[in-house]
Amino acid sequence: TAARIVLDDDYEIAEVDPRIYGSFVEHMGRCVYDGIYAPDHPSADEDGFRGDVAEAVRELGPTILRYPGGNFVSGYEWEDGVGPRAQRPERLDLAWRSVESNQVGTDEFLRYCRTVQAEPMMAVNLGTRGIADAVRLLEYCNIPGGTPASEMRRANGTADPYGVTVWCLGNEMDGPWQLGHKTAEDYGKLAAQTAVAMKRTDPSIELVACGTSKPIMPTFARWEATVLEYAYPHVDHVSMHMYADPDKYPDMADFLAAGLDIDEYIRSVISSVDYARAAGRHNRHMSLSFDEWNVWYNSRPRDLGHWPHAPRLIEDEYTLADALVVGSFLNSILRAGDRVRMACLAQLVNVIAPIRTEPGAGELWRQTTFYPFALTARHGRGTALQPSVTCDRVSTSEHDDVPVLDVAAVRKDADEHVIFVVNRSTTTAVRPHIDLRGAAPGRRTVERTTLTGPDLTATNGPGNQGLTPAVAPGALLEDDEPVGELAPGSWSMLRVR
Ligand code: AHR
Repeated sequence: TAARIVLDDDYEIAEVDPRIYGSFVEHMGRCVYDGIYAPDHPSADEDGFRGDVAEAVRELGPTILRYPGGNFVSGYEWEDGVGPRAQRPERLDLAWRSVESNQVGTDEFLRYCRTVQAEPMMAVNLGTRGIADAVRLLEYCNIPGGTPASEMRRANGTADPYGVTVWCLGNEMDGPWQLGHKTAEDYGKLAAQTAVAMKRTDPSIELVACGTSKPIMPTFARWEATVLEYAYPHVDHVSMHMYADPDKYPDMADFLAAGLDIDEYIRSVISSVDYARAAGRHNRHMSLSFDEWNVWYNSRPRDLGHWPHAPRLIEDEYTLADALVVGSFLNSILRAGDRVRMACLAQLVNVIAPIRTEPGAGELWRQTTFYPFALTARHGRGTALQPSVTCDRVSTSEHDDVPVLDVAAVRKDADEHVIFVVNRSTTTAVRPHIDLRGAAPGRRTVERTTLTGPDLTATNGPGNQGLTPAVAPGALLEDDEPVGELAPGSWSMLRVR
């Protein structure tokens, strides 16, 4: 079928904040140990980080990395993870019922960020700890010297402060599963007080308050309103988390419509924080940090085991369909670029991750989801534009009026527009006409990069990198000619130059 995508340079959403292309490194399962860190691997650097993983991370291109959790942070004592490695204690990680060796900690992680050219997003423990410890960690990272914590960093070998800008005030504090879970009132007060103390310590930082941990939380919306009653003036962002579970959708066509749920969730979070803005008579609009998002087969049973070190936890194998939904997450985030200013694909390696590894000198491979992320992170820059899309609309089992095309677009620079399109139809190819209005006239070419295949349930695996994007050479964009065909069940990037 045919479709039309109109882009007008005057219909700007916002400058793309590069920090929407973040990811997440949690001390969980094999994300750190056997993931980014594998001292026995032949490519390991002096800190023990796997070189081939670091190379894949650079190719993936996350701009910011959230650390060290996740649920893990709510029981974490950061002091365990600094100083001479031989003296670091092993501890029980109560979040994931594992043993934490502490061989990777704050200094190693912050050096890793430099290696992979990503900014850090640190989280403080507001579960089992509080204001004083948060301030001490900030002092360790950002104060040049002369105080106990900053001198400790210097004694541990890092003379200059790291200058970490973004800090999360705990993690998912609305969740009963969280260590130190709190009511919105209690968390709102603690977040506000911690924020005041941290900003006195370093006024240049940006703070993220915990919003809702998933759309179905019974406290959703009231949580944001109450937390922000206390914290609005003191924080810069509110977090939101969402995982799409393929097993919860009745069929494939319905799962591919998950983007509608993502859009709806973003709209509702914006409404909740805007309510708090109105109620509190605040001028500033609150930014959202969508700092955990992904596809996660979360309803499948998992065995936490009996205090193992770095067990295989939630190492989901991603299908082609999952990659399309990851494309939809990215499109939704781009379209909400005026409000969602940071976002993190959770997680980076092994644990619900685009990059997978086997232990020791074992293989590394890229999951299907790697590609839409890497390409959107690289080319989805500049100014996000509001596309106007005319295409078929269908009903799926639980979604009405689903546009078959899910589209986001940017004006990357004066010479290039980039359009990201998911064709959600499982059966029908779409031939889009592109109408580029307001752009300088002239002949243009459209280069198409597509991830697709005959089987939406196909995956990559060790020794099987079968699903990779294919690049179709530039087709001429003539007046009203379609620019080729978007296969059913495909993710595409159209670069118009
Ligand atoms: O990313 C896995 C877990 O999902 C995180 O630890 C937690 O914050 C979320 O519930």
